[in-house]
Amino acid sequence: MRAVTVTADHRLTASDVPEPIPAPGEVLVDVIAAGVNRADLAQAAGSYPPPPGASPLLGLEVSGRRRDTGEEVVALLAGGGYAETVAVPEAHLLPVPRGLSSIEAAGLVEVAATVVSNLVIEGGLPAGAYEAMPGTRPTVLIHGGTGGIGAFAIQFARSCGARVLTTVGSDEAIATAARLGADRTWNRRTTDIFDAVLAEGGADIVLDVVGGSALAGNVRVLREFGRLLVIGTLGGTTGDLDLGALMARRARIIATTLRSRGVEDKARILRRTHELVWPMIEDGSIVVPVQQVLPLEEAERAHAVLRDGGHLGKVILEVR
Ligand SMILES: NC(=O)c1ccc[n+]([C@@H]2O[C@H](COP(=O)([O-])OP(=O)(O)OC[C@H]3O[C@@H](n4cnc5c(N)ncnc54)[C@H](OP(=O)(O)O)[C@@H]3O)[C@@H](O)[C@H]2O)c1
Repeated sequence: MRAVTVTADHRLTASDVPEPIPAPGEVLVDVIAAGVNRADLAQAAGSYPPPPGASPLLGLEVSGRRRDTGEEVVALLAGGGYAETVAVPEAHLLPVPRGLSSIEAAGLVEVAATVVSNLVIEGGLPAGAYEAMPGTRPTVLIHGGTGGIGAFAIQFARSCGARVLTTVGSDEAIATAARLGADRTWNRRTTDIFDAVLAEGGADIVLDVVGGSALAGNVRVLREFGRLLVIGTLGGTTGDLDLGALMARRARIIATTLRSRGVEDKARILRRTHELVWPMIEDGSIVVPVQQVLPLEEAERAHAVLRDGGHLGKVILEVR
């Protein structure tokens, strides 16, 4: 089958590789399109190896057709998505939401599962309970508001009823974040974002893709019982942590990755994601913004779009 492989000098190239053989509990999916994720860039650079037992190929999410039933599905993968066919645990498949194209569907499941597992399962954001409990509407701060994760997280948190604050990388992106549903947005390059968040009263939940360089600021803006959910390290893996500030506000820091979770753990997250997100997609409260669609053979160009930054939402590789 056709797939993208990584050369010894970290370039992406189209190759012929053997089709995967499904393990017990797995099914084959013929891929229509594959979502591109930041983790793919790190894997190609050699700094983020696949977890044990996963395909060595890049690609954490696809849309495609089950070989056994012909049903159109989306699949959450530990690897292997940049290829014509992928083997995936049956429990990691979900149907394509009504109204979504195969291209949009290819960029949905990795961000949706990451955001639900963090904001809802780890962070305790209840979905839509605030109308019944006036005064309890939480404030959620989302960094990288126009990236794949951020664009989805803004819409999801807003749909759950939260007040959404977000940070972006340009003045242009401020208007984009507002269109996605953010209540307040700041340009991280021209504003002291943490002072700005404090002036707005701080945040109950912070969804953070920056990591080390934002750690002190993120802790500073947490309200009492606040939760800092770290999912990325675009600003490094280490930073300053004021434990006193954390203790005084009875706050928590939680850091997770989705990719290396066990099969049943991921299946549990996917069930919750399906239950919460699919209705929001189907009623139009959440859209999947697609910045660019490129053929599989142009994976290198697709990675450059993410590396250069300034994009909105997802970059997708068309496989067939
Ligand atoms: N832990 C998990 O389970 C999990 C799952 C999925 C993704 N992630 C991580 O989440 C992060 C975002 O993924 P993605 O697919 O959304 O990537 P993406 O589409 O490239 O988005 C990244 C966003 O972060 C912004 N950004 C880049 N460098 C930054 C910095 N130093 N400080 C503040 N903002 C910065 C970018 O803004 P500009 O465009 O303005 O540069 C962009 O909006 C990645 O680190 C990825 O590995 C983690």
